[in-house]
Amino acid sequence: MASGDFALFIGQVLRRPHQVVALAPSSRHLCAEMAVGIDPAAGPVIELGAGTGTITQAILSRGVAPENLHSIEMNPDFCALLRDRFPGVNIHQMSAGDVGQLPVREAQAVVSGLPLLSMPLGLQRDILTGSFQCLRPGGAYVQFTYGPNPPVARSLREDIGLTWQVSRKIWWNMPPARVYRFTKPAVT
Ligand SMILES: C[S@@+](CC[C@H](N)C(=O)[O-])C[C@H]1O[C@@H](n2cnc3c(N)ncnc32)[C@H](O)[C@@H]1O
Repeated sequence: MASGDFALFIGQVLRRPHQVVALAPSSRHLCAEMAVGIDPAAGPVIELGAGTGTITQAILSRGVAPENLHSIEMNPDFCALLRDRFPGVNIHQMSAGDVGQLPVREAQAVVSGLPLLSMPLGLQRDILTGSFQCLRPGGAYVQFTYGPNPPVARSLREDIGLTWQVSRKIWWNMPPARVYRFTKPAVT
């Protein structure tokens, strides 16, 4: 990671602590785990809370074409950096709560770097329901967490009927984290 990225990130943590909610950008080890299973031939990918683009880079490294990646970020300074660094990627400066309004359907995955659990329940609900509107059947909502519990509020998990798989602990991250892959059972 460039030292300028770290300085920008820390500057935004200080200016907008309730939006960034992290000590540092995610490590390449955590980002690689977030991108596991992404297949360049399997349709578009949506990213939420792209920050300085560490997860964006990991998704592109899987071979996804830039025009097949839609990255949402609400912070204008991060968006300017992302547009400069990732030409061709669709950078959307907007709230992740409006993800359902993206002109994207049949996405293979929504990969989230958002501080989801620290968000109000209504916003979490908008993010999850909007994400599953964009996902193809069987597509996954991927979310990391530093804590011991699944990073979606229990009531919401139950309402939507989410099931999940969880990764091993990624120690090379500050702080260590796990990755959850949430899916929604098909309606029969
Ligand atoms: C923990 S940082 C993660 C940044 C980067 N993905 C990473 O893993 O290093 C959370 C990011 O989510 C963004 N964010 C927070 N709330 C958001 C919202 N409602 N809509 C879009 N982005 C949001 C912040 O601006 C910040 O860039």
